[in-house]
This record gives sequence, structure tokens and C-alpha cells, in this order.
Amino acid sequence: MKIAVTGKGGVGKSTVAAALALLMAKKGARVLALDADPDANLASALGIAAGERSGIRTVAQQKALIEERTGAKTDGYGQVFRLNPEVSDIAGRFGYLHRGLSLMVMGAVPSGGAGCACPENAFLAALVRDLVLRRDETLIMDMEAGVEHLGRATARGVDVMLVVVEPGRRAVESALRIVSMAREIGIGDIRLVYNRVRSRPDEEYLSAELGGMEVLGVLPFSERLLESDRDGVAVTDALEAQTLECFESMISKLYAGLGESGERAR
Ligand SMILES: Nc1ncnc2c1ncn2[C@@H]1O[C@H](COP(=O)(O)OP(=O)(O)OP(=O)(O)O)[C@@H](O)[C@H]1O
Ligand SMILES: [Mg+2]
Repeated sequence: MKIAVTGKGGVGKSTVAAALALLMAKKGARVLALDADPDANLASALGIAAGERSGIRTVAQQKALIEERTGAKTDGYGQVFRLNPEVSDIAGRFGYLHRGLSLMVMGAVPSGGAGCACPENAFLAALVRDLVLRRDETLIMDMEAGVEHLGRATARGVDVMLVVVEPGRRAVESALRIVSMAREIGIGDIRLVYNRVRSRPDEEYLSAELGGMEVLGVLPFSERLLESDRDGVAVTDALEAQTLECFESMISKLYAGLGESGERAR
């Protein structure tokens, strides 16, 4: 199963991605958690202590490797480089093992950012294509707001895209923009996760604004989730029963409808 988690900044993407990854791994799934947000913070949501994070090698920073595979200098201009570099060994080499899952951090592209036509972005795009289309682990991608860096071919391999949204106009507007972009590039199954819901009026507000779209789960505002961020522990540690149940039910719904292999028939 390939899951992309997106939504406006700060809405709870890393929290949701980390909880799904940890709980699915605990159930025995082979999970690859991919931090595809240049402002990476999935490691912390997974409970990897700050002192340990220096052991995680960020893919975008592997200058020599990217130059070797793309055939171009990462700091050169106007070069020709391979758009289809060899990447099939990268998950094995750069995955950081933690609590039964593997975390890979893409990192920020040093030269020119996410939009530039540079060897780093060609390499990262090839990597995401490989993870989505060719590998068979359960992939959970923590993405920045938007789906710009998922090409059409890759998008077709994403089984489910979760759009996290909280009760607020700005988060709703972002969610609507993301959903329309996702539809445009051909992602078929898009589901909302309502987060930080404090009351019935909160939920009613979201349903009124986003009615008609499938909702995978409604996560309550959780003191424990906030504290887990403050204390630097995994999002699923010492979670309130109600919040944990909500994540568990999201996972059951994700598995329902997919075959035993966890893959959607394509
Ligand atoms: N249901 C919730 N109840 C209370 N706090 C929450 C909830 N979900 C997330 N949070 C808190 O909100 C903050 C932002 O969450 P998170 O880092 O998951 O968001 P994000 O969308 O990944 O942010 P960014 O765009 O910066 O990557 C964190 O402090 C997190 O603990
Ligand atoms: Mg995040």
C-alpha cells in the first residue's frame, strides 16, 4: 500500500504519517516511512531522539552519489543529466531502522530548492517513482503541502492520498487546492483526515465546507499529541485511548478494500 499524507503547514501531517507508520509496523507490515518534506520532521514524530538523528543520512545531501548516478555536477548550470538514474539500492542504503520500520529522509535540495531543474531533483523524483511504482513495502510519505513533486506516472501508483485538515478557513482552503491538484494528476483515492477537532461545531464546520468528500478519520484535539512533540517522544507513546482508537480505525479502513497483498488492483 502506498499512502501520501499532505495538507497545509502545521496541520498534523507528520503526526498522522508517524502514527500510521508506527502502528502498521507494529502489526507486522514492512513499512518504509519517507520524509519528503524539505523541512523534515518525521524523525522526531517517530520518536527518534535528537542525539540519534545525526545517524540519518539525508538523500538530497549525497552530492557525490547524485553526481555519479545522474552524470552531472550538482552545482553546474546548463548541463545534461540522466532523468532516469539508477536508484533501486537507495532505500536499502539510506533507510534508518527504528521500531521495526525504516525511515528515509529526502531533505532539502541545496541548490535552488524544490522547483529547480537540477540533478538533485531528478534524482529525488526517480527515487519516489521507484518507491511508489516498483517496491512492495507499505510506503507512507510525509509530504509538504501540495503534490507538485509527484509526477503523473508516480501519482497513478499512490493508492490513497490523505489530506489532513483542521477546523479553520485557511486549512480548508489549502485542502481544497490540494484535492484539486491531486485529482488533476490522477490520484484516484483522496480522503480527508479531520485533525484537532475539539467540538461538534468543529466537525460540522469541516463537513459543511468539505462535504461530499470521503473522511478517513476524525482526530480529536489531543493533549498527549502536543506533549509528545514537546517531550520529543513518538506520537503513539502514551496516547489517550480515544486517539489511539481513531488511528487504529483509520488503518482498518485503509486495509479494507485492498487485496491481501495490501495493493490495489491496477
Ligand atoms: N490532534 C492533535 N491534537 C493536539 N495537537 C496536535 C494534534 N495533531 C498534531 N498536533 C500538534 O500540532 C503540531 C504540528 O503537528 P505536525 O508537526 O504533525 O504538523 P505538520 O503538518 O507535519 O507540520 P509541518 O507542516 O511544519 O511539517 C505538533 O506540535 C503536534 O504535536
Ligand atoms: Mg511535518
